[in-house]
Amino acid sequence: MAAKKLKVVVTRRLPDPVETRMRELFDAELNHDDAPMSADALAAAMTRADVLVSTVTDRLDSRLLSRAGEQLRLIAQFGAGVDNIDVQTAVQRGITVTNTPGVLTEDTADMTMALILAVPRRIVEGVKIVESDKFLGWSPTWMMGRRVGGKRLGIIGMGRIGQAVARRAKAFGLQIHYHNRRKVAAHIEQELEATYWESLDQMLSRMDIISVNCPHTPATYHLLSARRLALLKPHAYVVNTARGEIIDESALARMLEKNELAGAGLDVFENEPAINPKLKKLVNVVLLPHMSSCTLEGRIDMGDKVIVNIKTFADGHKPPDRVIPAML
Ligand code: 8YV
Repeated sequence: MAAKKLKVVVTRRLPDPVETRMRELFDAELNHDDAPMSADALAAAMTRADVLVSTVTDRLDSRLLSRAGEQLRLIAQFGAGVDNIDVQTAVQRGITVTNTPGVLTEDTADMTMALILAVPRRIVEGVKIVESDKFLGWSPTWMMGRRVGGKRLGIIGMGRIGQAVARRAKAFGLQIHYHNRRKVAAHIEQELEATYWESLDQMLSRMDIISVNCPHTPATYHLLSARRLALLKPHAYVVNTARGEIIDESALARMLEKNELAGAGLDVFENEPAINPKLKKLVNVVLLPHMSSCTLEGRIDMGDKVIVNIKTFADGHKPPDRVIPAML
């Protein structure tokens, strides 16, 4: 007799090849219309699933996790960030948590670089001018941006994505600086010609562009607080493709409004999908709807990683991408 298949509840729609494979391997309950699940729907799913495949839009806090049934053994997050999950509580309840690191590094770094170019070079502003028929002819002093090459880029969080951003930025002639919990290996610093700043405050006060590439954890919540944002030079730009919560969004919006900063490129927001209305009115910002890792290839790779994590777990082994609270 065939072994009973694992009941896998997938909270959002995933690319077709991933869903097909999941249907073949598991007793998969898919979300065909892709509507985000309410807290009650998630709690109910956690009383029937052996495995929950969650995403950034599912808030699995300790209260919700306390409603999970005994049968729930694995939360396989489709995503690198796990700040939507109370990992500590999950692990205490005997639930393993996995994520999908690595496969979205290059795509996220591409989009970060795109923002690093788009904001100082006013790309989106230019597009809007053409679209609204306001291009009335070339002039030597019209639509001047700021040169990117030669400027100092300060990367906050020098993990996989931070390093991939640094590699791209170096090719564009930027000088690489970074702040991280610890220095990266000497050969990586050498390859990137990167300068380590133990003090985030000191780095901020000297950079032309800041890129946020660290995970959102309790320690990085509002890491760029109003006080720290005020350390930036008025001509500095801020790019964030990590998590909105790392920056005090109201303080950032206020400063941009008052021209105390030159501009910002933001793919993530504190209260997604809501965005501070002040930001939407500004011309010196480029706002994207949390799409930095969003390529078809990347989403399929993420799905494959989720499947490997579930399969390995089901076969009685430690899944490759286990998240343990000490990592956070
Ligand atoms: C994903 C992300 O789209 O992986 C992450 O942490 O921020 C995004 O790239 C999303 O989180 C999927 O859950």
